[in-house]
Amino acid sequence: MDKDKAVNYAVGYAPGKVILVGEHSAVYGHEAIALPIDAGVRVAITRLGLKNGPSIRGLGSFFMGQTFYFDRSSTQGIISQVFQYLMDKFGPRMQEVEIIVDGDLPRGHGLGSSAAFSVSLLRALSNYFSLQFGDADIAFHAHALENIFHGRSSGLDHTVVIKDQAISFQRIKEEMKIEIIELKVPISLVIGLAGPHDGTKNAVAKLFERKKRMQKIYDHIFLGLNGIAIEIKQALLDGNMAKMGELMNIAHGYLCALGVSTTEIDHLCSIAKNQGALGAKITGAGGGGAMIALANGNEDAILSAFNSAGFMAFKAAAGANNQNLR
Ligand code: MEV
Repeated sequence: MDKDKAVNYAVGYAPGKVILVGEHSAVYGHEAIALPIDAGVRVAITRLGLKNGPSIRGLGSFFMGQTFYFDRSSTQGIISQVFQYLMDKFGPRMQEVEIIVDGDLPRGHGLGSSAAFSVSLLRALSNYFSLQFGDADIAFHAHALENIFHGRSSGLDHTVVIKDQAISFQRIKEEMKIEIIELKVPISLVIGLAGPHDGTKNAVAKLFERKKRMQKIYDHIFLGLNGIAIEIKQALLDGNMAKMGELMNIAHGYLCALGVSTTEIDHLCSIAKNQGALGAKITGAGGGGAMIALANGNEDAILSAFNSAGFMAFKAAAGANNQNLR
């Protein structure tokens, strides 16, 4: 890098995501459908005043008034691995920067916070060091970072976060089949939070062990989820929200069978349906985290019922392009 080209301050933004169908089954090569949401992560890079080593810190509210500090969080081990990767790829100049993280995406809830962090960080680094990264470069490094966060990442999360559009995704061996889905109608969700999940890495590893014990049974479930992905894609193209809601409910049933839902998530799904949601399901790795309700005009009623039951929740527009937030 030409040192003169380095700027003193650069930012990057990336949205979070929801998965309509295909969490976990995507890891085993099945089709998944995912959408970006209008909440995300912003990373700012500045020149570190004192050359006393790398610094990553959170600024302000990461979500709803919670202050987020990487250096004090339990992910410190993971963050140091992320830094090691960046040092290997971008060299010792990484030690001269300070990375500041902010945003409105709940962290550790299966809403793509690690992918949004990785992508916004890489976008900011590209801007800071004038690397002119295209989406393919961002995807290459984001996948490596996601493998640090997730252990065995299908690539689904960082792909939808980079594309910033509704996608169909399938990973067969090293090949990724990615299709942009043109939404016929806007998707309005209420996202209910059941507390931080057990970690994607753990959820994927535990399911891997369960699957080893009953291979054929789990394979049937994954095939069922694959069939739902094909139908949901069509429902999105047709703007058939009633059908999509029904398919989300069936997907949730399969995810319960996979053992990744919790009583809190199931409770939130029931509340949402009682308040008029067309469909409700867990989203992301599970074991806690978040669920999504297809609101069908009942956003306020669903949100207030979630809050009355003691859960944090927020409204989200899904599938829209969030470039204006960058
Ligand atoms: C996590 O958002 C989605 C999982 O399918 C993991 C992956 O696809 O890498 C659970």
